[in-house]
Amino acid sequence: MTMKWESINQNVFVIKLVSGILITCLGFRFFILRFGQFSPVQVSVNDSQFSPPILSDNEDLIPVDIEVDKCDLFTGKWIKDPLGPIYTNGSCGIYVDGNQNCIANGRPDSAFLYWKWKPNDCSLPRFDSQRFLQLMRNKSWALIGDSISRNHVESLLCMLSTVEKPVEVYHDEDYRSKRWLFPSHNLTVSNIWSPFLVQAAIFEDSNGVSSAAVQLHLDKLENTWTDLFPSLDYAIISSGEWFLKTAIYHENATLIGCHGCPASSNMTDLGFDYAYNTSLRHVMDFIAKSNTKGMIFFRTSLPDHFENGEWHNGGNCKRAEPVSEEEVEMKVVSKILRDVEISQFERVVMETRNLKLLDFAGMLLSRPDGHPGAYRELRLFKDKNTKVPNDCLHWCLPGPIDHLNDVILEIIANG
Ligand SMILES: *[C@@H]1O[C@H](CO)[C@@H](O)[C@H](O)[C@H]1NC(C)=O
Ligand SMILES: *[C@@H]1O[C@H](CO)[C@@H](O)[C@H](O)[C@H]1NC(C)=O
Ligand SMILES: *[C@@H]1O[C@H](CO)[C@@H](O)[C@H](O)[C@H]1NC(C)=O
Ligand SMILES: *[C@@H]1O[C@H](CO)[C@@H](O)[C@H](O)[C@H]1NC(C)=O
Ligand SMILES: *[C@@H]1O[C@H](CO)[C@@H](O)[C@H](O)[C@H]1NC(C)=O
Ligand SMILES: *[C@@H]1O[C@H](CO)[C@@H](O)[C@H](O)[C@H]1NC(C)=O
Ligand SMILES: *[C@@H]1O[C@H](CO)[C@@H](O)[C@H](O)[C@H]1NC(C)=O
Repeated sequence: MTMKWESINQNVFVIKLVSGILITCLGFRFFILRFGQFSPVQVSVNDSQFSPPILSDNEDLIPVDIEVDKCDLFTGKWIKDPLGPIYTNGSCGIYVDGNQNCIANGRPDSAFLYWKWKPNDCSLPRFDSQRFLQLMRNKSWALIGDSISRNHVESLLCMLSTVEKPVEVYHDEDYRSKRWLFPSHNLTVSNIWSPFLVQAAIFEDSNGVSSAAVQLHLDKLENTWTDLFPSLDYAIISSGEWFLKTAIYHENATLIGCHGCPASSNMTDLGFDYAYNTSLRHVMDFIAKSNTKGMIFFRTSLPDHFENGEWHNGGNCKRAEPVSEEEVEMKVVSKILRDVEISQFERVVMETRNLKLLDFAGMLLSRPDGHPGAYRELRLFKDKNTKVPNDCLHWCLPGPIDHLNDVILEIIANG
């Protein structure tokens, strides 16, 4: 029941999102940047944090590995991995949104499952669910953001469920925010639905048909996540794509402009980059001032891989293998979102304790093979000629998004 409702919403989101992208980028969607020009960001690290190594009570769990401090985990390549994923499409069905369970939906190729991420300067261990759960005893986590955050939390739940099954202990009225408990480790994992991170009035009926533009308050953070924030031990915060939608912007309770403004309007078109930058400025200031005990990860938005069009005009993603850096291009819109993210992160990182960047944009840019494509619903018995939109935005589970957790565990354990 829940699953069904969620699935519908997910589709609607994707449709709206992609039409948003279409409208937004009509002017420049043919101009693309080379990945080579998009330099990986070096996260500044305060060296005194690492030396001398502090021998904690959990010393046995947290080995001191000096080499890892120097290794940029986000720069590397995908290499063949005969072991494949740690969970299967069959073992994790109950946590996975049906639209991302690609194998169960009939995706015939499985080579995309047999790759792992290899940073250039160090090795990255295979995700160890037992180790993660041991380190996270009594801890509370939240993944905060849009449907890509949900995609990520489902990946994490599937991986951890190979050791202990999570129990759903909370959901909001719309089943959009949820919380799970791993009882024998007393670990809670929340997924907070807050696609803009700031307050938004969205006028959509249950089919996602909107009757008016989104009203966005760029300087008012959404309390669905800010209320929970002080109690968290770990958070992964992200946003991005929803800012591409047509919207009316408010700041200091005053209408200041719009994006994708109606033709008859006399408002100023400020552009989505203005709105995203302003909103993230408030998000980052909130994190910096919070003085939280928790470790806060800010995740850059992940690229999509629509080729030969977009959502509505036959765009697809039919590749079956990763591509190399030389072959891959980042779309202008993705680059704009990422530039805003990096600039706001760097503005506060030096004076903010425990704030880290998860910049997976480049890593996942080389995985056009990792999306559901046409297999976002069961295709086995469908008329092959029926046209369904492809999902080249979310990620198959199992799939490349699982490897974000390899990196995250490594950062927690060694960084
Ligand atoms: C680095 O961290 C140490 C302790 O955490 C602090 O005393 C020092 O001021 C920091 N240095 C910089 C440049 O942030
Ligand atoms: C998908 O799950 C089924 C049932 O558990 C299993 O038989 C099959 O091998 C899985 N497929 C892949 C590609 O892992
Ligand atoms: C679970 O962890 C919380 C802290 O997150 C702690 O307050 C609580 O006492 C723990 N409960 C048990 C049963 O260990
Ligand atoms: C978890 O919390 C329980 C209850 O508060 C406590 O007895 C136990 O030592 C804690 N475990 C860790 C690893 O902090
Ligand atoms: C916000 O608006 C109020 C009155 O509407 C004004 O007094 C105040 O200075 C404004 N603050 C900022 C930061 O613009
Ligand atoms: C914009 O139009 C509204 C009426 O639709 C009017 O009240 C307002 O004064 C106009 N603003 C400007 C800046 O022209
Ligand atoms: C975002 O805002 C900051 C000020 O907070 C400004 O320095 C920066 O140039 C802006 N970045 C973008 C990409 O608009």
